[in-house]
Amino acid sequence: MSNVTLFSGERVPLEMHKVRMIQKLKLLPIEERKQCMEEAGYNTFLLKNRDVFLDMLTDSGVNAMSENQYAAMMQADDSYAGSETFYRLEATLRDVFGMKYFLPAHQGRACENIISQILVKPGTVALMNYHFTTTKAHITVMGGSVEEIIGDEGLKIQSDALFKGDIDIAKLNEAIARLGRENIAFMRIEAGTNLIGGQPVSMDNMREVSRICRKEGIPVVYDASLLTDNLYFIKIRDEKYKDASIKDITREIASFMDIVYFSGRKLGSARGGGMLVNDEAIFLKLRELVPLFEGFLTYGGMSVREMEAMSVGIAEAMDMDIVSQTPIFVEALCNELLDKGIPVVTPPGGLGCHVDASQFCAHIPATQYRAGALASSVFIASGVRGMERGTLSEQRNEDGSERLAEMELLRLAIPRRVFTLSQLKYTADRIAWLWENRKMIGGLEFVEEPKVLRFFFGRLKPIGNWPEMLVKKFREDFGESL
Ligand code: F0G
Repeated sequence: MSNVTLFSGERVPLEMHKVRMIQKLKLLPIEERKQCMEEAGYNTFLLKNRDVFLDMLTDSGVNAMSENQYAAMMQADDSYAGSETFYRLEATLRDVFGMKYFLPAHQGRACENIISQILVKPGTVALMNYHFTTTKAHITVMGGSVEEIIGDEGLKIQSDALFKGDIDIAKLNEAIARLGRENIAFMRIEAGTNLIGGQPVSMDNMREVSRICRKEGIPVVYDASLLTDNLYFIKIRDEKYKDASIKDITREIASFMDIVYFSGRKLGSARGGGMLVNDEAIFLKLRELVPLFEGFLTYGGMSVREMEAMSVGIAEAMDMDIVSQTPIFVEALCNELLDKGIPVVTPPGGLGCHVDASQFCAHIPATQYRAGALASSVFIASGVRGMERGTLSEQRNEDGSERLAEMELLRLAIPRRVFTLSQLKYTADRIAWLWENRKMIGGLEFVEEPKVLRFFFGRLKPIGNWPEMLVKKFREDFGESL
């Protein structure tokens, strides 16, 4: 975002790019939207994209690519071993992160699998600011567990804290003393902490966490999937970095880490993933598993075209105009909703706008998936597809009881360079209508509940006939409007 002030004083997320290719969208009438939601088992993951108007499910693999990324795809070198494409990607990553070794993997969770395989022993604990769904699943599959040591501000919906993803240093010291170094698998820091509203981690915090862990010999693992948003926040929210280049900030972060891994579906605005390390011994251990699970070392399960796009995408991300794109749009949508009195996670983070479903749907019992019900209602009311990030995204406790999420959020992801301000205004308008009519929204219950990562393909049904009532009220209020 360049420094442009409007005469009116209004703040708008001004795009520093233009649109040269488009995809036509369709907005179905509300009756059909309700039908689609029903067929999708009240799970927005199961909707067909053809029935979705604005897809705010995720930014994963759906950021708009640049002309240079498309151009690079044309020069991909398709060979099983020793592809030139790999060496180009490796050179980019070494340059951006200043780390020695790169290993490719087909996406972020594949890195999590490999890292967990080498670092997690049964009974060990992985400490982290906050878990991500796939991360936790891979650690628990290996017999380990996760302990979150995020600062208390991180779990408050409304806060003034600028770096809500920060680790609580006292909790870190306490965990090391209580568990003992030998029982700690690794320390994981997640950039742009996903499940608590895309909240950033400060440089000072990473430096201190790394210092403590290195003294104890605990490996520090950095999940850089949401790095770009975090870079933006360090630059604008930490006075000390206001004149630093995006690449210098990236390199300083990497200097605190033993392993950096990422989802290239996010970081690279393409589709893929990878891991970076400095230590040869760790590199050799990780390397053994890449051909086993992913593919040969010079492609790791990725298409070479995607690797080329990722390489350019990551190099291009070392630019304030690029890293600011998502956060300024997230802020715009959050402000639209806040103006209408709708509770969202503040300060606005990266990744998307996060609506607080525990306030929005306070009248629904917490075990009836408030955020899931809100995600379904938003789709019915608007054709906008968001994602539940709450209790439904948790796994049940060992005894089968529900594990209530600490935050019950509806995430409206803002993939980079995809949506316009008018589309955000439309979204905010329909959510404002729902807010007025929120008491009509009811709960959900499972019809089919998978054991692992149930939110991906579990099927639910509404408790009562609230979807019909919503449709009826919509017609009364909006007449013939779509
Ligand atoms: N870590 C973080 C912080 C993520 O946000 C994701 C994916 C992963 C790891 C896993 O990467 O999908 O390439 O295997 N997040 C997506 C999302 C799915 O919608 O937030 P992946």
